[in-house]
Amino acid sequence: MKHGPEPWRVKVVEPIHLPDRDLRRRRLEEAGFNVFAIPASDVYIDLLTDSGTSAMSDNQWAGLMLGDESYAGARNFYNFQRTIQEITGLPFIIPTHQGRVAENLLFSTLVRPGMKVPSNNHFDTTRANIEVHGGEAADLVIAEGRDPASEHPFKGNIDLERLDRFLAENGRENVPIAMLTVTNNSGGGQPVSLENIRGASEICHRHGVPFFLDACRFAENAWFIKQREPGQGHRSVREIAADMFACADGCTMSAKKDGLANIGGFVAMRDKGLFEQLKNMLVVIEGFPTYGGLAGRDLEAVARGLVEALDERYLEFRVGQVQALWERLDGAGIPLLRPAGGHAVYLDALRFLPHIPQERYPAQALTVALYLEGGIRGVEIGGVMFGTTDPETGQPRWPDLELVRLAIPRRVYTNTHLEYVAEVIERLHQNREGVRGLRMVYEAPVLRHFTARFEPADD
Ligand code: F0G
Repeated sequence: MKHGPEPWRVKVVEPIHLPDRDLRRRRLEEAGFNVFAIPASDVYIDLLTDSGTSAMSDNQWAGLMLGDESYAGARNFYNFQRTIQEITGLPFIIPTHQGRVAENLLFSTLVRPGMKVPSNNHFDTTRANIEVHGGEAADLVIAEGRDPASEHPFKGNIDLERLDRFLAENGRENVPIAMLTVTNNSGGGQPVSLENIRGASEICHRHGVPFFLDACRFAENAWFIKQREPGQGHRSVREIAADMFACADGCTMSAKKDGLANIGGFVAMRDKGLFEQLKNMLVVIEGFPTYGGLAGRDLEAVARGLVEALDERYLEFRVGQVQALWERLDGAGIPLLRPAGGHAVYLDALRFLPHIPQERYPAQALTVALYLEGGIRGVEIGGVMFGTTDPETGQPRWPDLELVRLAIPRRVYTNTHLEYVAEVIERLHQNREGVRGLRMVYEAPVLRHFTARFEPADD
């Protein structure tokens, strides 16, 4: 074992079961071969996302009982606010019910048509919230971050030279804000170094552009800095996290990740004027400024979860568990995105299923095969999610990578569960010639991956 055992014991259990193969086949047919449409009760190991799927601690559950459901000024808000101020050093805090509302508040206030917002890689909801306001989301991750085989320790880093040039070319008037996603979810859950965060901050400030972190997985990112960055090993994760936030003018946060909560989020900032603007919008779309779309008890669960997510024994196990699954699969010759991410392992479907061409959706075919073989649910990040049609030629355009993300919920599955996952994947890999491609028979005009339907394709 490369990491210590679970730093918790189990107090409550939730039964799960593996439906038999006939039922799994039927569920896939009913779902149009799209695992989003399969009822969760018929999923055995659910690795669809690490968002909102954490197991809360006894301390968090106890906090729920202390929920103060007053409309205004609930005591839990003050605890929530103080906790975030202490961790981030950011003075002004706005609660939201999840991360994308924090993004909506920020970008609806700052972005006007034609403006551009750079990041390492924008997450889908960040991109969408910029684009609906007529803005353009620019991804400036380093070249290694786009290479699935690169072993760079900080593949989430932003290309500082490109950022500098981007800001010089576009000018402060056209770039209302710059972001950095830590860890970089769309780039494989890869971390960003403290040196890179400092560099990006310095460049943005030299150009007069506010610099924000998309901080969903800030604690996992800080853990990677402690493990991998020269000169950081002796420092606490809390100190490192404080340094990360010290570089930023603010952050957006989905507390469904490193908040270890099932719902919640916030936006935090230094600028009082911006805070007042966002607060006014909050009242229109979410709720009063001391609850922002959350129950008092949820504010308490987030406040307690944020502290627990910085516990180094927890982080060692958490990141180590993901790493151990990655190493076992890598050792068995399974094609993977390298190196392991903080929250997920990504299967490389183009190399896993080389007999299935991109127009037959190999990553989608692999998610279907995983469910059929073992009741495991992952998520396709490939041609279904990112494939487009060239507006001029009408020809399909395919993304570079066809991946299946296996996101590991926090504190939910034991190592035995993940051994089972590894066994199923290894078995599937041995019998990979039997996996068939798919033909898409229905797609919605936007975000088609959620509702697309497929049929097996034999050609
Ligand atoms: N930013 C990042 C980096 C994310 O990973 C997510 C959500 C969000 C923002 C939006 O937060 O869901 O609370 O509104 N990621 C989830 C995932 C959905 O599965 O990766 P939200």
